[in-house]
This record gives sequence, C-alpha cells and structure tokens, in this order.
Amino acid sequence: MIKGIINYSHYLMEEAVKKGDTVIDATCGNGHDTIFLSQLVGEDGHVFGFDIQEQAILNTKARLVRNKLTNATVINDSHSNFMHHMPVDKLTRLGGAIFNLGYLPGSDKSVITHSESTILAIEGIISHLKQNGIVVLVVYHGHEGGEEEREQLMKYVRLLDQKLYHVLCYGFINQKNDPPFILAIQKRN
Ligand SMILES: C[S@@+](CC[C@H](N)C(=O)[O-])C[C@H]1O[C@@H](n2cnc3c(N)ncnc32)[C@H](O)[C@@H]1O
Repeated sequence: MIKGIINYSHYLMEEAVKKGDTVIDATCGNGHDTIFLSQLVGEDGHVFGFDIQEQAILNTKARLVRNKLTNATVINDSHSNFMHHMPVDKLTRLGGAIFNLGYLPGSDKSVITHSESTILAIEGIISHLKQNGIVVLVVYHGHEGGEEEREQLMKYVRLLDQKLYHVLCYGFINQKNDPPFILAIQKRN
C-alpha cells in the first residue's frame, strides 16, 4: 500500500534515526510527533520540541506525562532559535527533525509557520545533522499564508547541493483541496 502522509513522514524518520540519537520536533502542536520521536530514540536518546504557543507546550508536556516519557525537553520558543536551547553534546548526535507546517488544528488559525523562520531553522538543523540524518517537513499549504511558505520552501530546497543532500518530494497529486505533502532532506555520506 502507498503510505499516507503522516505514516510516510514517520517511516522516513524510522529509517534514518537510531536509538540514542537526538531529534527535534520543530512544531510540537499537540505533541503527537513528540511522543513518536521520544519512543523512536529510546531512553538513551533525547527529543527537543519547540512551539511558539504556550498552549501547545502545555499540551505536549501533558501528553508526555500521560505516556510516562521522560526523554524530551519542550521549549516555548521558535524553532529558528533551536541552537540556544540544545547542549553541544546533544547537538552532535542530531539524527533528524520533523516539521508540521501551518496552524494547529482546533486552535488560532492566524498562528502559522512562516517561510523565513522555517528556512532559518532548516538551514541550521541540516548543518548539524549527522551523516544520513534527515529533516522531514509535512507541508500544509491550503490556509492563508500557506502558499507563500510553500513557494519559498520549494525554492530553497531545490537549490540544496545534490552532492551534500538528497531532497525528496512525496505527495498525492490527484487529491482535492491542497493536500499536504512531504519534503525530506537527507544528509549524504
Ligand atoms: C500543524 S501544527 C503542528 C502539529 C503537531 N505536530 C501535532 O502533532 O499536533 C503547527 C505548529 O507550529 C507552531 N509554530 C508556528 N510557528 C512556529 C515557530 N516559528 N517555531 C515553532 N513552532 C511554531 C504552531 O504554534 C503550531 O502549534
């Protein structure tokens, strides 16, 4: 079966990330990906989660507690500031990051991710990734502001040096209403 968008985003992370790695959830929201990543890296690994909305941070922390997971640090700041919050020993073990772009469903639709900070974060993260490490972006673009972010992102990833990175685009091209798609950037050996 062809994998759906969320399943495929998780599959890509599972393929690239190892137990004991550090990973980033760049857009915690309600914490679903934070939980997934926490279980993926195991007790010896660590998740750094970011969100600019306090409610998202509270929701993610509560979800971690409910799942009895203690290997995650959740930070109320923009993903573009990730470097300020991650100790060097953790940064050197960076195996991957995941972004769910757009707004938090059921929340304020005017709080969205923006191309400027998204690209700044990606740029920093890929420079710190281990070899074969991966950044997975789930690009929601049907909302106001989504088209601008999508276009800037496409422009940015298309220019990444193919000798250094594999860049993948995965999506369903016969679906109505601007379905989300995946962009993935993997650091090459
Ligand atoms: C589509 S939601 C994420 C959904 C989440 N992965 C989940 O499992 O529920 C996007 C989130 O990105 C957050 N966000 C927007 N700009 C951000 C930024 N610069 N840094 C970190 N988070 C940001 C929003 O507050 C929102 O919660």
